[in-house]
Amino acid sequence: MDAVAEIGEYERTALAAIAAAADAAGLEAVRVEFLGQKKGQLKELQKLLGQVAPDQRPVIGKKFNEVKARVTAALESRQSTLDRPASAAAGIDVTLPGVPFQLGKRHPLSQTMAEFKLIMSRLGFDAVDGPEIEDEQHNFEALNIPPIHPARDPLDNFYLSVADRRTGGPLLLRSQTSTVQIRVMENTPPPVRIVSLGRVYRPDTIDATHSCMFHQMEGLWVAERVTLADLKTVLRLFATSYLGDDVAIRFRPSFFPFTEPSVEVDMHWGDGWMEIGGAGMVDPNVLRAVGYDPECVTGFAFGLGIERFCMRRHHITDIRRFYENDVRFLRQF
Ligand code: PHE
Repeated sequence: MDAVAEIGEYERTALAAIAAAADAAGLEAVRVEFLGQKKGQLKELQKLLGQVAPDQRPVIGKKFNEVKARVTAALESRQSTLDRPASAAAGIDVTLPGVPFQLGKRHPLSQTMAEFKLIMSRLGFDAVDGPEIEDEQHNFEALNIPPIHPARDPLDNFYLSVADRRTGGPLLLRSQTSTVQIRVMENTPPPVRIVSLGRVYRPDTIDATHSCMFHQMEGLWVAERVTLADLKTVLRLFATSYLGDDVAIRFRPSFFPFTEPSVEVDMHWGDGWMEIGGAGMVDPNVLRAVGYDPECVTGFAFGLGIERFCMRRHHITDIRRFYENDVRFLRQF
């Protein structure tokens, strides 16, 4: 057999043996057999090359070197395959880059509420929760809203088709977080200083700025000698903490059955005034309804819409975005 044929034969058998090696030990035996420096087939081949005619040597030598390189590469490649853990055999290649894990984010409204709670806690207000399903006592009666008041129109509220199991009275989705004022004062002697953040429900035609469910932050501070000036101070501190020092607060006279006097609260932020909610001094009738003595304590209450702050800060132009759970929108915050 001539040298070229010998080299070809060497390559074929070496590659076949490498492919057939079942484990690292088997492959090592193949390496010694075909690439070993002291004995083995490579050595035999080299001996043969020594006998080739001098004018043939450069060509045959080049071929030999190429084949040796190919066999070495095949061996190394097989080695790295055998080195991989068993998971590779199961079709899982742990050396591949991982699939990136999409981290979730808190909903922009949840972020806003967490920030509001933090600001108010620095001003000494504890955060409390109240039920979203309410009775007329807490949503209206104790808040000095009489049965003939238009706010109690069944068409303006979400009444439930089931009655209160305890009293047999009607139940509704709360239309305001002011209900929590009553729940707190019923159970706590003064002084109280709380905020309550959560959902409220009102039938409404849904559009870019209206939703039949939205969020409010209720605030209540009842103690000796709390005044309207305290209300304005707290609201101003709240607004500047959230938005910065160039924010101003303005009161306009208004009416709520549960506060006297009552005000609408506007906030100057950027290029204009924006209405942020209602507020006032807790009406003596409300204090009496929960067993407080209006001769001894006074207090203020406020209720702010949360969506508006969040929309304004993040330049969100449609309130419906908050409730659609579109991750492309939610991921941005
Ligand atoms: N509950 C009122 C509303 O939803 C806001 C308010 C709260 C007004 C507390 C006065 C005091 O419109």
